[in-house]
Amino acid sequence: MVYAADTGAVLHEIQTGSSILAAPLSYTVDGEQYIAVMAGYGGGPFAYYPVGSAVEKYGNEGRLIAFKLGGVSVPLPVEVPKLGPIPEPPIISSASGETLERGKAIFEKACGECHWNTNGGYPDLRRMTASVHSIFNEIVLDGVYEPLGMAGFSDILSLDQMDDIYQYLLKISHEAYLEDHAQASAG
Ligand code: HEC
Repeated sequence: MVYAADTGAVLHEIQTGSSILAAPLSYTVDGEQYIAVMAGYGGGPFAYYPVGSAVEKYGNEGRLIAFKLGGVSVPLPVEVPKLGPIPEPPIISSASGETLERGKAIFEKACGECHWNTNGGYPDLRRMTASVHSIFNEIVLDGVYEPLGMAGFSDILSLDQMDDIYQYLLKISHEAYLEDHAQASAG
């Protein structure tokens, strides 16, 4: 949105295809003014992408966008594919209610800050593929995804605690899968 400095009236709207959170910078080159922004979504709300936001539709490739009067339109990024239904988890948990409660509590404390298990910047763990399921230990304890920003938790979680979390994730994945499936059958 471009606003008039004196009245606040909206003068112009520009679709950038990127969420903009950072403060703009103004500079001139040969007497011509530019307003540049580092565009991209992040910071505190990274775990959740607001419905209808640019980041949800176009993804989150960081871009530097510079505007000037009479400039060309901003090229839009390619749209990201819509999330499909929740995949069927490879195993159904047969863990006790007590284990599942424990898993939920540890998950909320150790993982839930990032993994909101919704549409956001961190993976929805109800959507893990079969290959991710098969290396869950290595990811969560050994830290094989550290280069992607997912630290290993072997210094604070035991194998049993990790398994409690895993059983809880199997349960919520299966519930989400059934819910998606019921909605799809309903119409
Ligand atoms: C500080 C944020 C943060 C916390 C806390 C966190 N994770 Fe992650 N997790 C990440 C990031 C970042 C990724 C990798 C994202 C990517 O693939 O680009 C990830 C990836 C994963 C993956 C791979 C998912 C997939 O489908 O590829 C699993 C499994 C996972 N995390 C489990 C956990 C568990 C279990 C916990 C709690 C013990 C946890 N994470 C805590 C940030 C976090």
